[in-house]
Amino acid sequence: MPKSNSFKAGRHFLQIPGPTNLPDRVLRAMDRAVIDHRGPEFAEISKGVLEKLKSVFKTSSPVIMYPGSGTGAWESAIVNTLNVGDKVLFFETGEFSIRWYDQAKQLKIDAEIVPGDWRHGIDPKVVAERLAADKDKKIKAVCVLHNETSTGIVNNIGEIRKAIDSVNHPALYMVDVISSLASIDYRHEEWKVDVTVGGSQKGLLLPPGLSFNAISHKALEASKKATMPKHYWDWHAMLENNKTGFYPYTPATTLIYGLDEALDMLMEEGLDNVFSRHARLAEATRLAVKAWGLEILCKNPAEYSNTLTTVLLPEGYDADNLRKTILDEYNMALGASFNKVKGKVFRIGHLGDLNEIMLMGVLSGVEMGLTKAKVPFKAGGIMAALQYLSK
Ligand SMILES: Cc1ncc(COP(=O)(O)O)c(C=O)c1O
Repeated sequence: MPKSNSFKAGRHFLQIPGPTNLPDRVLRAMDRAVIDHRGPEFAEISKGVLEKLKSVFKTSSPVIMYPGSGTGAWESAIVNTLNVGDKVLFFETGEFSIRWYDQAKQLKIDAEIVPGDWRHGIDPKVVAERLAADKDKKIKAVCVLHNETSTGIVNNIGEIRKAIDSVNHPALYMVDVISSLASIDYRHEEWKVDVTVGGSQKGLLLPPGLSFNAISHKALEASKKATMPKHYWDWHAMLENNKTGFYPYTPATTLIYGLDEALDMLMEEGLDNVFSRHARLAEATRLAVKAWGLEILCKNPAEYSNTLTTVLLPEGYDADNLRKTILDEYNMALGASFNKVKGKVFRIGHLGDLNEIMLMGVLSGVEMGLTKAKVPFKAGGIMAALQYLSK
């Protein structure tokens, strides 16, 4: 079996929870000469893409697109709407919620994070309690993740909205959809989210390199009074330029060609079908994990993620060693573990351009890897997934 620095037949399986497999149609769409980003042809493409993007966020308000990673779009949400010293509430659901909170602190926001155990999502009742206790309305924003990629936990964004409204709190509501966009149903406008933060490299079927802010009217009003220093992230320069299909600086032309194609593909499949495909593949994965006798990190089935499954290994077994075995032996990359669960879990990404047969390959690779790495498990996972998918 080839180990490294040598040809490996067949394709690499990229089953981390993003970046995801690139569809050939997107690759082909990007295989084009770069054109003048201040010329008429680019303006037409760009205006079309900015309009089509609204449908994946389910909004009629502007969506801004940065050449940048998701971390940048987090920063943009903060610096465009808040002031130094503002109180902002975060909720610990895993590594990425902590990173956003750390970023806010570095930006001199008075950030607080409500602790969590990494096995449960946010309880909307706690959100309501925390906001009800804020009699002077000092909290200026509530920042949460729709899908916590480090743990495979989905937060109920609609219910958290209701919790905020139930105590009539005026805080801005900011939601990270980096690992749920175009994979798990999300409704920026209906759930009255003020800033939605997205990225290109997961459900949106693109390489890394683009990130997004969907903006509500309330957020736009807040941005007019926000005094945090900003230049690259400034919404106003971007919105002004976007009116004519342009950008205040050089956009990622090639990625925008790809995005145009990816949005067409998502619309051809139909967003509801995209969501149900993800739900189906996720359920098959969970059935396999349970049949193997392994534990899913997320404890509450209502909070299971449809884009990834985080699997706990039995005490004393090293998840990083399992991932290494699977990469070396079967050429498949699975998601790493962080912080509180470092070495204890591995993550199976099942999002983006994926179908039943591809998923069965993924689960087979995991099962062969469990055997190779001598992790104790029960047979039957593959059959459980197969039976479910054949129904
Ligand atoms: C939920 C979530 N938020 C934020 C990020 C950070 O995004 P990026 O790595 O593109 O900066 C990630 C990255 O995987 C993520 O999964």
